[in-house]
Amino acid sequence: MRASTDPLVPTAERYRAFAEVEARGMSACYEAWAAGVAADPATVALIDQLPAVKRQPNLVFSAARLHGASVGKYPEFAAWLREHWTDVAATCLTHATQTNEPGRCAVLLPALAALAGPLALIEVGASAGLCLHPDRYSYRYRLADGSERMLHPFDGPSPVVLDCDVTGPVPLPERMPEIVWRAGIDLHPLDVSSETDVAWLDALIWPEHDDRRARLGAAVAVARREPAPIVSGDLGEQIEALVARAPAGATVVVFHTAVLAYLNEADRNRFAEQMTRLPVRWLSNEGQSVVPGVLERLAEVPALLDHMPASAFILALDGEPIALTQPHGRSLHWLAPEDECHNRRFNRTLLL
Ligand SMILES: C[S@@+](CC[C@H](N)C(=O)[O-])C[C@H]1O[C@@H](n2cnc3c(N)ncnc32)[C@H](O)[C@@H]1O
Repeated sequence: MRASTDPLVPTAERYRAFAEVEARGMSACYEAWAAGVAADPATVALIDQLPAVKRQPNLVFSAARLHGASVGKYPEFAAWLREHWTDVAATCLTHATQTNEPGRCAVLLPALAALAGPLALIEVGASAGLCLHPDRYSYRYRLADGSERMLHPFDGPSPVVLDCDVTGPVPLPERMPEIVWRAGIDLHPLDVSSETDVAWLDALIWPEHDDRRARLGAAVAVARREPAPIVSGDLGEQIEALVARAPAGATVVVFHTAVLAYLNEADRNRFAEQMTRLPVRWLSNEGQSVVPGVLERLAEVPALLDHMPASAFILALDGEPIALTQPHGRSLHWLAPEDECHNRRFNRTLLL
């Protein structure tokens, strides 16, 4: 667990870690706010009124922005927070960090398209389900040589265009995978048809990320045309029943991005065991030490580990690493065939 989300870590330390590790280079505003909180005992005391699991910087800042906190310098933010604390605290108590990033479909798509279709998709930890529509978005893959490859839905270009820089021998698809069924599971599903839920998704996007904010609106419009059903409940408890509901004749793909970090170790192990036992393909896109066994398998290629950014996610199919990804789907590094571990597993796990 990251220090910023660990309820056992003192609040000032959580905010310092958030400023230095997560916000730096990603959001100048959140870096300044988090560093400011870390050095400001009065604001720490305010935030400490919340239960420890609700003190996480991303939640408090998103709640503040939902209630109108302006992007700016820390002293103005601290004064604003004192004045609006009752509203911000109430939102923290009733909401969770559920960022739904359709951009992550760009790193999932090549793996999905390489599987034998038609596909039945099940996303665990789906939030509002925006990643359940990978075939309804357009993609612009930028290759290392400067060229671009576009891919569009069967019925033509989508209003949502996902940009992704690719390196390594990515099997970029010529056409969309055929997806015949889709469903999700989430502890607290967000509803794309609810303006309140969409406002929360918007507030969860970091201040300077205007491209992601614009994309959220367009992806919500796409999902509203044909929303995917999302079962409310714990992924480990619901997955077996949902897999049983998938249509016969389709390849069932259970996938998740930025979800398993919310589970404790026992629940992650239980879920991994379910994935090996159920008749499904399992596509995970998670932080490096989150999915049991994945980092250990990647460690068979030490040169890769040396060059892997700490923030990179690992994309794995059936527990075998196949790519490194930028956490919001902005880039994808497919593992090279000369990586012995990858070559062996890639050929075994994908039906090209
Ligand atoms: C950071 S969001 C990621 C959403 C989506 N996968 C994406 O990449 O855009 C994590 C989601 O996982 C859900 N979640 C966390 N623990 C869960 C559990 N045990 N069972 C089901 N969903 C869970 C949260 O409610 C939240 O919506």
